[in-house]
Amino acid sequence: MSRYNIDSPEKYSQLYIESVNEPEVFWSELASNNFLWEAKWSKVLDWDFRKAKVSWFKDAKLNITINCLDRHVKNHPTKTAIIFEPNNPDEEYKSYSYSELLTEVCKMANVLKSMGVKKGDRVCIYLPMIPELAFSVLACARIGAIHSVVFAGFSSSALAARIVDCKSGIIITSDGSYRGKKILNLKKIVDEALEICKSDQKVLLVKRTNESVNINSKRDFLLEDLIVDVDNFCDAEIMDAEDPLFILYTSGSTGKPKGMVHTCAGYMVYTSFTFKNVFQYDDGDIYWCTADIGWITGHSYILYGPLSNGATTIMFEGVPSFPDYSRFWQVVEKFGVNQFYTAPTAIRALAKQGTSFLKNCDLSSLKVLGTVGEPINLEAWQWYNKYVGRSNCPIVDTWWQTETGGILISSIPKVIPDKPTFATKPFIGIQAILLDENGNELKEFNTVGKLCIQYPWPSIARTIWGDHKRYIDTYFSAFENKYFTGDGAFKDKDGNYRITGRVDDVIIVSGHNLGTAPIEDAINEHELVAESAIVGFPHQIKGNALYGFITLKQEHENIDDIKKEINLLISKKIGPIAKLDKIQMTNGLPKTRSGKIMRRILRNIASKEFDNLGDISTLLNPDVVKEIIDNSL
Ligand code: WTA
Repeated sequence: MSRYNIDSPEKYSQLYIESVNEPEVFWSELASNNFLWEAKWSKVLDWDFRKAKVSWFKDAKLNITINCLDRHVKNHPTKTAIIFEPNNPDEEYKSYSYSELLTEVCKMANVLKSMGVKKGDRVCIYLPMIPELAFSVLACARIGAIHSVVFAGFSSSALAARIVDCKSGIIITSDGSYRGKKILNLKKIVDEALEICKSDQKVLLVKRTNESVNINSKRDFLLEDLIVDVDNFCDAEIMDAEDPLFILYTSGSTGKPKGMVHTCAGYMVYTSFTFKNVFQYDDGDIYWCTADIGWITGHSYILYGPLSNGATTIMFEGVPSFPDYSRFWQVVEKFGVNQFYTAPTAIRALAKQGTSFLKNCDLSSLKVLGTVGEPINLEAWQWYNKYVGRSNCPIVDTWWQTETGGILISSIPKVIPDKPTFATKPFIGIQAILLDENGNELKEFNTVGKLCIQYPWPSIARTIWGDHKRYIDTYFSAFENKYFTGDGAFKDKDGNYRITGRVDDVIIVSGHNLGTAPIEDAINEHELVAESAIVGFPHQIKGNALYGFITLKQEHENIDDIKKEINLLISKKIGPIAKLDKIQMTNGLPKTRSGKIMRRILRNIASKEFDNLGDISTLLNPDVVKEIIDNSL
């Protein structure tokens, strides 16, 4: 990729200018020179943001797994592709060479085929971070099935909603999952989900914890039974550039999760190019992203980005705190990790433990550190820089979204200097812009505005599965002819961006997007609840935590019990990540005269910014605000 290695500020400027002045020429050459195609495109880009239509590399034919696996098997079959580090450090790690990985993927692909899965079918994957998760994802891509990975911390209702939405006919899961000291029975959750779905899905069961599970012989198939009969090779299905590669659900501001659809070619080109350059991955490096493949970060920067570059990528099953808080650093030392990519919430949790856990670990292999998922605060940045990076590793604060497929704003080691708490500069091809409320461009520096992108990049999501109108409404309606990110940002005098957070009803808790609406829907199902509003408030470790203001239908004595029931309900409907840290019962919620809940006021109260409430005299019920302040937690 040498022409496309961004190794100096001059090179960045040169490529950036090319990518903006002649985007089609730029991406066409890059795609042509760096990937294997069965057929080239007839048109590089077709787009109309007004209709939320984007298509890249029209009529091109390819299979992403040929680019991620076969071509590397040809060049360096024994090179390690994936290192699997188990939850328990006493269990032996496993590594898979490119050639072994291809075989595993082909076997899994043949198993899926034997179960009747075909191109275009949706396959729901509900697995822990075990090698079979990677095999399953890539096996779907191999045969052209559309994978929909659901994070294995989601509840049965959340899983069911996702299965139903994309009409997935098969669910790949495991008996259980190890998380630190805990074992979670995933199969049971899948059984419950399928009970809710009431349709006839098949289940492919992978063994991990070996605990006993219910087997429904008509529906459940054991991987170990099916895999013995299949071939070691499976031809790659030839896909159209714009065929869907996967669906990944993300929260929105209404109750229903949005199934973001990514397609084969553009996604491959952009994740591959960004991976190589943002992490400055050199041949032979060991790269580790601690995310779960259930989120976009895992899709793009554990699997597709690294593998398309022939890199060695680590999959970690465990948690940072087990057996103790040195776990991450032990793993860095064990494999000599060169690039380490994690979330601010993990950094804050680790920083809270002090530095003793780092002391005996050799971190000298580290060259580049990365963060993703939420704004990183200065303190956490400094701790990461000083103790993990030994003031010697650039930190790439990478801003992007499930919808964007790949990193859009980030510093680049030795090219674009990092600046604490700033994601810094748009990546090649990314035309970022800040707008005011009325959609006017904020051209001056040192301003805060709404972050939009005004030109397509190859890995932008193409639609919301089954609901293109919602895709238009959510991302392309706020500002004409722009993609609106939903984030606010500040731009300094040098053009560096700092993301200030969401400007809509999505709250980022521990780096995970949580829409307020689905949580409120879950709470409102409690028989005693009349109304509720959820807002975020600053939290030392999670970044934001959730504060619920809840009005009951009638007075009740056992408020603590009700609070527990509400959190249980949330766990059940969405998952434990969405539990409320604070619950305040109120006699009413502040509303406008048209009946809209004034979340801004509740947000300020939750953040203890009582002097900043603005004019409340125009509310329908101004008195309720005083009561809420007096009783606030
Ligand atoms: C937030 C994760 C500040 C942002 C890849 C975005 C960030 C949402 C950063 C997307 C960052 C992500 N700095 N905020 N470096 N990275 N965000 O879809 O609000 O899970 O819109 O994708 O996370 O979260 P998602």
